[in-house]
Amino acid sequence: MNLREILNHKVSEALDSISGLTDCQALINHAKSPQFGHYQANGVMSLAKRLGRKPRELGEEVLQILDLGEIAEKVELAGPGFINIFISPDFLTDTLNKQDKSRLLPTTDSPQTIVIDYSSPNLAKEMHVGHLRGTIIGDAIARSFEWMGHKLIRQNHFGDWGTQFGMLITYMLELENPQTRLENLEIFYRDAKKRFDEDDDFAKRARDNVVKLQSGDSKCLQLWQQFIDVSVEHCQELYEKLHITLSKSDITPESYYNDKLASVISELEEKHLLEESEGAKCVFLDNFTNKDGDPLPAIVQKSDGAYLYATTDLAAIRYRCQELHADRVLYVVDARQSLHFQQVFGVARLSGFAGEDCSLEHLSYGTMMGKDGKPFKTRSGGTVKLIDLIEEGIERAYRVVQEKNPELDEDEKREVARAVGISAIKYADLSKNRNSDYVFDWDQMLAFDGNTAPYMLYAYARIKSIFRRAALDAEADYQLSINAPEERELALKLLQFAEVIDNLLLECYPNQLCLYLYELAGSFMSFYEACPVLKAEPQYKESRLGLCQLTALTLRQGLELLGIETLERM
Ligand code: ARG
Repeated sequence: MNLREILNHKVSEALDSISGLTDCQALINHAKSPQFGHYQANGVMSLAKRLGRKPRELGEEVLQILDLGEIAEKVELAGPGFINIFISPDFLTDTLNKQDKSRLLPTTDSPQTIVIDYSSPNLAKEMHVGHLRGTIIGDAIARSFEWMGHKLIRQNHFGDWGTQFGMLITYMLELENPQTRLENLEIFYRDAKKRFDEDDDFAKRARDNVVKLQSGDSKCLQLWQQFIDVSVEHCQELYEKLHITLSKSDITPESYYNDKLASVISELEEKHLLEESEGAKCVFLDNFTNKDGDPLPAIVQKSDGAYLYATTDLAAIRYRCQELHADRVLYVVDARQSLHFQQVFGVARLSGFAGEDCSLEHLSYGTMMGKDGKPFKTRSGGTVKLIDLIEEGIERAYRVVQEKNPELDEDEKREVARAVGISAIKYADLSKNRNSDYVFDWDQMLAFDGNTAPYMLYAYARIKSIFRRAALDAEADYQLSINAPEERELALKLLQFAEVIDNLLLECYPNQLCLYLYELAGSFMSFYEACPVLKAEPQYKESRLGLCQLTALTLRQGLELLGIETLERM
């Protein structure tokens, strides 16, 4: 249990025993300012209301029996009935001294099977910025579950099937040497689309080829495969550049479910969930209506027999719940698909594709906007290719490094620029609440102040330099002894890493981890200004080095969970 949970547990128990109830809530929060201690329990007021008693009086009784042992040095009743808890420095000292330096936090004692669907771009075109957020945010969430010891299964649900591939195959058939042309997927797609739009005969052949492809024609399948291979290779290259943990073995694309779609329909049929609407097979769910108030069906098969995006997602849910035995299935997908997921989840529940014990969660994210407040586009209004964005980030970071640290040798400058450029793009995204749209702003993300990648990387490198400058071992075992207020503040922050990670796995908001790391770096800076380390008197020096060490370890671990590479020097 993390500290907040321990306090919640103890105070709730005290409330239960005083009231004779069994469901009292301590409602522990971090205190808003130091004069109110470190934690505050707000549960007395609501209990007093329930019992019809005076809150302060009840509070006094709670204090009488509340035993926080060595955790608190002081517990006070304040205001209308808040309980303010002041954590004792000895408790901080003991707990941090016992922390396992190689891991910081123990793995979970109740591991779950977590399936996470993220990145999942469409393969017909080159990967563009529309998939950047899902890729970065999903990867941070995946890394965090995995690190805490859950069984994590990544699913890259590539869009590798559908009508666009008929067009692409038809275009390949026209070219003498399609392979060389596939080097630039964006241009290839554009040219194929142009042929499709301008030539009716081409368009007809493209439609025929979709049918042939879907019925398993070997020539069509071979061309399709050739195209997919190039496109997958392209995505993998980007993942590697972005330091994303998705590998080829995580790919379970839409086409994987092709031979499972017929049984999705027949199972829905057997359960009497299907209705016909204008020839299409649909499921009508309660509470889904269009803007005119008419019932809004989830369509699972069109009148011509074709299956839809939703059909594939139903097959995927059935597979994830029943064959992968997921406890939770997480979908890191654009907010614009939220109606789709509400419907698909609804049908999955009704049909039993997802059992009651399997939680289905759409972790949605907002749109990436330009500084002009419109969706992020190139200057000419086209979609921004991810690779171009990455290269621009590295180039801009190089200029910043050049300005800040011109004496670094060229190779190191390049390496620092690469890490800073990539990290800046990732961290800028991760540090914002994923629900909101987010404004992509180079100057903001490359700034050395504020909650940015350069600031975080610099904070880490600066601590490492303390050890380097004094030729001290950053790995050694330093015993802590917490005294000064700034030491306490920092020690408590370090201890709260566990709370942040627990919360991250619960709600899946990486921005909370970013904010924590930023505040941790801030607490460290205040400590470092107030408390000399290398020049400290011997009885303080070891402990302060220990605080430096733990801060560096926590920053590095936290950044690693976010998928941000740290640098030992900058
Ligand atoms: N390929 C889809 C897109 O680009 C995203 C897929 C998300 N995952 C899913 N299971 N539907 O919009």
